[in-house]
Amino acid sequence: MARASIPSTAAANRDGAVFERPDELDITRGTRDRLAFGHGRHLCLGSDIARVELELTWTTLLRRLPALRLAVPFEELDYRQGGLVFGVRELPVAW
Ligand code: HEM
Repeated sequence: MARASIPSTAAANRDGAVFERPDELDITRGTRDRLAFGHGRHLCLGSDIARVELELTWTTLLRRLPALRLAVPFEELDYRQGGLVFGVRELPVAW
């Protein structure tokens, strides 16, 4: 029977041999070597528009709601585990 291996890009993006402090969100760390948009022939076709959308979304949101902040202590956030896309189950905010 043929066997296939599916690499985890999420795990690769947290490889401590490649990234310093891999579990910390550091928006200044740059994009070198990370695999958020895949790699090679299946590199995300929408990566350019996704980058523009994200930049517009965050700059607009923070400009319009400069006091945007968590409404609960950071330690109380609950995360989805084991899925392809990591994230919080809910994100209570105030502004
Ligand atoms: C933050 C947003 C996005 C992320 C993180 C993301 C991530 C990815 C990743 C990791 C892959 C590679 C999957 C693989 O290796 O098989 C991929 C493929 C792809 N993405 Fe995205 N994507 C995003 C947004 C978009 C958008 C907005 C579009 C279209 C407008 C798009 C269209 C595609 C397409 C068509 C592929 C398949 C490319 C291929 O297999 O040749 N993506 N994306």
